[in-house]
Amino acid sequence: MISLAVASQKGGVGKTTVAVNLAYAFAKRGWSTVLVDTDPQGSVGLSLSERARRSRGFFDCMEEGISVDECVLATRLPELQILVAGRSADPFVRKASELQGTVPDVVASLGQRGHDLAIIDTAAGLTGYTADVLRASDFVLVPQQAEPLGLRSVPQMLKAVQAIRNEGHHLEMAGILLTMVQSDVEDSANVVRELRQIVPPQLMLHAAIPRDSIFLRASAVGVPLGLLFQNPPAPAIIFDQVAAELESRIELHSESPLPAQDDHTRLMD
Ligand SMILES: Nc1ncnc2c1ncn2[C@@H]1O[C@H](COP(=O)(O)OP(=O)(O)OP(=O)(O)O)[C@@H](O)[C@H]1O
Ligand SMILES: [Mg+2]
Repeated sequence: MISLAVASQKGGVGKTTVAVNLAYAFAKRGWSTVLVDTDPQGSVGLSLSERARRSRGFFDCMEEGISVDECVLATRLPELQILVAGRSADPFVRKASELQGTVPDVVASLGQRGHDLAIIDTAAGLTGYTADVLRASDFVLVPQQAEPLGLRSVPQMLKAVQAIRNEGHHLEMAGILLTMVQSDVEDSANVVRELRQIVPPQLMLHAAIPRDSIFLRASAVGVPLGLLFQNPPAPAIIFDQVAAELESRIELHSESPLPAQDDHTRLMD
């Protein structure tokens, strides 16, 4: 299993939105995906359903030592399962000595369930549980809001990832994903241009998430954009592009052999 944390120093940049929609996109592409909420705010479960709101989750595994198998919830998509934040979610991080579980234990237990991918939503900031999640993850995806103040946070994030690697952890950058881009607003377009100039191209995803009121509507009813209407709106399709880009970046390869060069599936026989 590959673990991909979605993290940023700043709050409100679209981490949860990206985590939910990306997990849905990966699942639709056939990967067995588990979406994990490690934010004590519990945003993933809050909007999903009454059952998700009441369910036990990540913090119950950490604090009470409950097994992840008892907590992981099925969804309408067989390839997508969810570990919500849970009932023990508490904004005050307890001392490690008071906990029954550790983040690496929870991630390892998810790996034993045979998922291809864990997408882990985190609380804003790079301390506490979020730092532990980053230490236990293979990759981190950094949503970056397209606003002038956002420019400063990129070097800080890269430094934080390097500091975790210096501790001997495996964490790699999956990439920086621009969010809330308003291409018709000059300030937003300037930030996108500047970021693409200062960030090494291998770190920046080509796909970018536009600012669109459809996201508010989807989060109000608690669904990924792809489930909002029978014909998903344009921003929903972008997460498919993000998933496709990430597949090669995080080396998520299918076990089944690729067809030979001239052996494409034919549209008609
Ligand atoms: N591309 C977008 N266009 C418009 N609104 C968006 C977009 N992405 C997210 N939002 C909205 O912005 C708000 C913050 O998004 P979200 O909760 O995903 O951010 P977050 O980084 O997870 O926040 P936190 O740091 O509090 O966990 C939400 O109301 C969400 O619906
Ligand atoms: Mg969030």
